[in-house]
Amino acid sequence: MSDTRIQALNTIRAEHRTLAAVIHNLKDLLAEVQAGRMAVDFPLLWSMVYYIDAFPDRLHHPKEDEWLFRLLRQRTHQADALIDELQRQHTHEPQALGEIRRWLGNLQAGVPGSMEALMRTVSTYADFTWRHLKVEEHELIPLAESHLTTTDWDEIAQAFAQNADPLSGFGQADAFHQRFRDIVQRTPAPLGLA
Ligand SMILES: [Fe+2]
Ligand SMILES: [Fe+2]
Repeated sequence: MSDTRIQALNTIRAEHRTLAAVIHNLKDLLAEVQAGRMAVDFPLLWSMVYYIDAFPDRLHHPKEDEWLFRLLRQRTHQADALIDELQRQHTHEPQALGEIRRWLGNLQAGVPGSMEALMRTVSTYADFTWRHLKVEEHELIPLAESHLTTTDWDEIAQAFAQNADPLSGFGQADAFHQRFRDIVQRTPAPLGLA
């Protein structure tokens, strides 16, 4: 296996784990609040929403679309239907996050029933994202491993290693890692990130 293939896949999987951890924490935090074991911490909840918007939605998914998916489509048609579906999910992502924002805002405004609606929305979002990541890891990546060339992996690894986001001007990826550390540190035990 080429070094860049390992490097690219490690980065993609690490980004999936980070996203899954933030969503998992978001879900658990809300359950703790709902159970009356924790006070609601709006800055922390908004930070999690910000992170999902700024990192996976604006960096991770676009890089998959522009590099991994695009190159795989060039090498084989075997993955076309799968890529179509994954790209539909990428397009749906901001809308799904918008629903979370809406109910989180309503909760902050004290709108009755918004806690239950937020929990339902986050749970649906968690399932949706979990399925998405699982399909990418278990179905898409194996096809990529069979069909992509060493040069393709070089390009993909380079794209995923890029710190600066060329589209949104969000700056360095390190800022996102810092943001993620903040979220983890601010998430009370025993949640946090194991
Ligand atoms: Fe994706
Ligand atoms: Fe992904």
